[in-house]
Amino acid sequence: MQTIRVVKKADIVAPDSWLAQSPDEALTLPSRYFFDDTIFRSERDRIFMSAWHVIGHKSELSTPGQFVMTDIFDQSIIATCGKDGVVHAFHNVCQHRGNRLVEERRGVQKGVFRCAYHSWCYGLDGNLRHAPRSERIKNFSAGSYNIPTVRVEEVGGFYYFNLDPNAPSMSDLFPGADAEMKRVFPTLDDYKLLEEKDVIVPANWKVIMDNSIEGYHFSLSGPCHVDLADLIDFEGYKLTQRDKWWTYAAPANKDATSAYGVPLSADKNPDECFFNIGIWPHNTFYTFPFSQFLATFLIIPLAAEKTLLRFGYYTTHDTVPEVTKACMDWMNTDLGPEDIKLNISVQKGLHSVGYNQGRYVIDADRSNESEHLVHHFHTLVHNGIHGE
Ligand code: FES
Ligand SMILES: [Fe+2]
Repeated sequence: MQTIRVVKKADIVAPDSWLAQSPDEALTLPSRYFFDDTIFRSERDRIFMSAWHVIGHKSELSTPGQFVMTDIFDQSIIATCGKDGVVHAFHNVCQHRGNRLVEERRGVQKGVFRCAYHSWCYGLDGNLRHAPRSERIKNFSAGSYNIPTVRVEEVGGFYYFNLDPNAPSMSDLFPGADAEMKRVFPTLDDYKLLEEKDVIVPANWKVIMDNSIEGYHFSLSGPCHVDLADLIDFEGYKLTQRDKWWTYAAPANKDATSAYGVPLSADKNPDECFFNIGIWPHNTFYTFPFSQFLATFLIIPLAAEKTLLRFGYYTTHDTVPEVTKACMDWMNTDLGPEDIKLNISVQKGLHSVGYNQGRYVIDADRSNESEHLVHHFHTLVHNGIHGE
């Protein structure tokens, strides 16, 4: 029996007409933007293949031999700290017959990267050092089989890679972001990775981003959100939009006596805040009040309706404070799942023939409950897909 596909309004909306709306009156991106494979492939090719992607904190690449392997779609790169202390990045692929060199996410390579297939060996800069029996073949020059390099830049204590040799540099794309990270985390260089947790979420990457950049749902959704709202001074809560990066921040509630189930000592840090910074398109760093951590929240698209959420936690303490451990647990098992449940439910709802576009709840003051960052983010996505 043939299935009848109901034609949605979105199928006939011209891209330009979406962009022409004013934010205060705009209808949200049509629902197919969140599950259509063609749209997803356009995002991959037109947004992510020339985007800056977090590799890791400086401390993860500060000693010669340290490496981090990271993937985006079907591409994989290795970033290493060379013998000279310089960070290199190159594709994770042997130049003989294409085998992947590294499967571990992180490690320390004391010698060379040796391909498990025929033992071609590469230095920490990705240059070919040895290819067994290559002296038997005609016109072989080892220098022609170095692994192609990938661009690396550092902003705000973290290294990023970009697969596009012609992409603008991070300082041009995100002016002020480095200074903002240093302002909020004055001892940025001293952080060390404590834990990394990957969760696969059956939702489009934008559903997850939308949820993470608005305060509208904060005191209106689940109990963990309300608990977090209690630790924040909402009067001082601000969502600030720049061109390709954004922040939202609020001072901590100074009257709080406990956080994440742990009593707070009287000398709790008065500078503690709620802070979140997003670097287009999908890199997020944050801290929660009294958590004493710097965390990453990396939204890594896998398919139109499948996303890898990577939760990383960094600390400056040799002995991790109880409140830090409690906050990580609470994020992993309480607040995170509460949002993930909403994301999965939204993803299902977006397929309904009873829904196509909603409204952005944006107020004139761009207050802490306004969804202006969601509209701004959708504009960047729309431009990324349909722009020049
Ligand atoms: S594929 Fe790597 S050495 Fe053959
Ligand atoms: Fe949330």
